[in-house]
Amino acid sequence: MTPESELTTSESTQPIATFLVFRGSAEEPQGFQEFKVPVEEGMVVLDAVHYIQQHFAPDLAVRWNCKAAKCGSCSAEVNGKPSLMCKTRMDALPLDEPVRVSPLKAFPLTRDLVTDVSWNYEQNKRITPFTPKDENTDAWNVRQEDVDRVQEFRRCIECFLCQDVCHVVRDHDQKDAFVGPRFLVRLASLEMHPMDAADRIPFIKEEAGSGLCNITKCCTEVCPEHIHITDNAIIPLKERVVDRYYDPVLWFLRKLRGKA
Ligand code: SF4
Ligand code: SF4
Ligand code: FES
Repeated sequence: MTPESELTTSESTQPIATFLVFRGSAEEPQGFQEFKVPVEEGMVVLDAVHYIQQHFAPDLAVRWNCKAAKCGSCSAEVNGKPSLMCKTRMDALPLDEPVRVSPLKAFPLTRDLVTDVSWNYEQNKRITPFTPKDENTDAWNVRQEDVDRVQEFRRCIECFLCQDVCHVVRDHDQKDAFVGPRFLVRLASLEMHPMDAADRIPFIKEEAGSGLCNITKCCTEVCPEHIHITDNAIIPLKERVVDRYYDPVLWFLRKLRGKA
């Protein structure tokens, strides 16, 4: 694509960062377009993208909302790493080389930095929602540690950075067999909920595809909410699947009851 952007004279004393921003859509030519952006103290990548929109490319498509790392909208890849643009500080990037900003690779491109993440919402709909226990039992007396355990999972902002980085979704395109780490987190939050009565273990094994995760922990590394996705959500779910299906004693008892 044609390089674009000239800075005004008054801005020329500031440090300048070179950005390579992905442009295009399925119907339009695709490639990286170069922009020069003056860097200010405290600036994040989303500020630079807004500068580019304001000064050079008003039609640059980008999704954002809170600019506070809480809505999960501004997910993109910065120098190839799935990141929230509003949380990625310019002073944390090497500015002696261009900063590459591209859309999430795991999902279909809508335009420029915007992808169609609707597949994720379809996965969410497949999960049995919270199903409360009978309120007339004393099971409603819960331990604080059981409450604390699921609170971690509720921090998820649905940025889908974990979905983007997961090689099962991203490189092997096994979206038909694996719901991805974000929805294993949701399943864990429901399965470990002390007040929930539903049984999602068969779904976790057969449809969510828990066995396809090989615990690389890449999802945990990119989570902006620092959820311990692999250790606290996925591994315990895998253990529950093993207990249900591969424990020989339990398997024999289920066989006797005609449920194996
Ligand atoms: S740990 Fe599992 S879910 Fe997370 S990125 Fe690796 S394969 Fe995907
Ligand atoms: S688990 Fe973390 S990385 Fe994944 S969608 Fe939620 S907040 Fe984003
Ligand atoms: S704009 Fe809301 S998370 Fe970045």
